[in-house]
Amino acid sequence: MAEQIRTKGIAVVGAQWGDEGKGKVVDYLASSFDYTARYAGGHNAGHTVMFNDHRYVLQLVPSGILRPGKKAVIGPGAVVDPVALLGELDNLKKSGVDVNGRLFLSNRAHLIFPYHRALDQAAEAALGSDKIGTTSRGIGPAYEDKMARRGIRVCDLLEPERFRVKLARVLAEKSKISRGAYGVPLETAGMLEQYLEIAGRIRGLVADTAVLLNRALDQGESVLFEGAQGTMLDIDHGTYPYVTSSNAISGGAATGLGVAPTRVTGIVGVTKAYTTRVGGGPFPTEMPDLDAQEVRARGNEFGAVTGRPRRCGWLDLVVLRYAKMLNGIDSLVVTKLDVFDAQPEIKVCTGYLLHGRPLAEIPPDAETLAQVEPQYRTLPGWKTSTQGAREVKDLPAAARDYLDFISNELQVEIGMISTGPERDATIIARGTKLASWL
Ligand code: GDP
Ligand code: IMO
Ligand code: MG
Repeated sequence: MAEQIRTKGIAVVGAQWGDEGKGKVVDYLASSFDYTARYAGGHNAGHTVMFNDHRYVLQLVPSGILRPGKKAVIGPGAVVDPVALLGELDNLKKSGVDVNGRLFLSNRAHLIFPYHRALDQAAEAALGSDKIGTTSRGIGPAYEDKMARRGIRVCDLLEPERFRVKLARVLAEKSKISRGAYGVPLETAGMLEQYLEIAGRIRGLVADTAVLLNRALDQGESVLFEGAQGTMLDIDHGTYPYVTSSNAISGGAATGLGVAPTRVTGIVGVTKAYTTRVGGGPFPTEMPDLDAQEVRARGNEFGAVTGRPRRCGWLDLVVLRYAKMLNGIDSLVVTKLDVFDAQPEIKVCTGYLLHGRPLAEIPPDAETLAQVEPQYRTLPGWKTSTQGAREVKDLPAAARDYLDFISNELQVEIGMISTGPERDATIIARGTKLASWL
């Protein structure tokens, strides 16, 4: 029997609460892969890529699309707002990026409609100060419908009569829910016509992407699996309920795309040199206001999609250890090292205490996590610019020590270091697994 060949299939995942710099990392790696494939989330993601003085923010379309000739897939595990997708494609076109024949949208992906957005906002408003702080893109309600088996998928949108029946049924139900639970009427006029017109515009992208990717892998083509959000926002393993509604961890690549777990041959975890989070929920290493303001300003920590200021904190090795375990991280990428270029001292959380006792594992509930007391190690800063470093040996000694400390504590290699938002502000560490995947 012919043995399945192990073609290169590398997953890139966020190791924290999202916004780690996955977009930049995926863009860098994508030149060495035939496909980039998104497996979870929707346009709640904002992946920033910068090169040639141009800034691109990708939400649904995999960042690999910016590499000429490379192919990209939006898989069935993602939730797709077709209006947002078309807007993104228009923007790409204006920037001279032609996706024709290179972008494939799963026929099984669930769709996000305006009522999902309305329900997302109404549910958040009802929670008051306990709100999750969602991106209000309708992500949660769309995944709810998927799991409740009443979602409308891309393949439904392409069949006008079937779509009409399903939409009418769902609108009747959603209107009652919105009015009854939140006292908000739903705006539904003209929806059917609008979406039938949209169907015509996305039809050319639609494919059975699981078949497409498996065939590509069988023929020896390589795939970069692009994660969205981050480990601590994962629906099953994150800081529930302050999470997103999908599996952001590497396991999601297999279920979200319909490729066997054995197709994922390596896993890259992305972390900042510090930590950020947007929205509500516990954040043990959150910095006091003044320090956070400084890091926010230097790191330009404002949401790529929502513009919301990101909460800032020190690097948390408890979180990264957990992320290494859940994702099976083979190689770690540390981004935004340059943000600490002027920092006199750097704190790193090495463990948590709960009521004065060391805590071995991350607690399952947000209430307990909010009470832990981080234990810090303080390392000296380097107070020199890391800009322009192209080799690990070009970095200041204290910066190398900081990276070595992280690598030793986590027992994982650091394969890539990012010292600026641009594509070329990147160091690939020689002799690492990550270097061998390029
Ligand atoms: P993603 O969601 O994980 O793709 O990350 P985002 O794009 O939301 O946020 C990361 C932000 O940091 C973006 O504005 C990037 O341009 C920027 N960035 C990425 N790497 C670096 C870096 O090494 N240094 C600096 N200063 N900015 C970076
Ligand atoms: P990328 O891919 C950071 C957060 C939201 C909120 C929670 C739930 O750019 O790293 P949702 O709209 O998903 O229901 O919001 O998840 N969140 C993100 N935070 N980066 C993201 O994506 C995020 N996607 C969702 O802020 O706290
Ligand atoms: Mg982001």
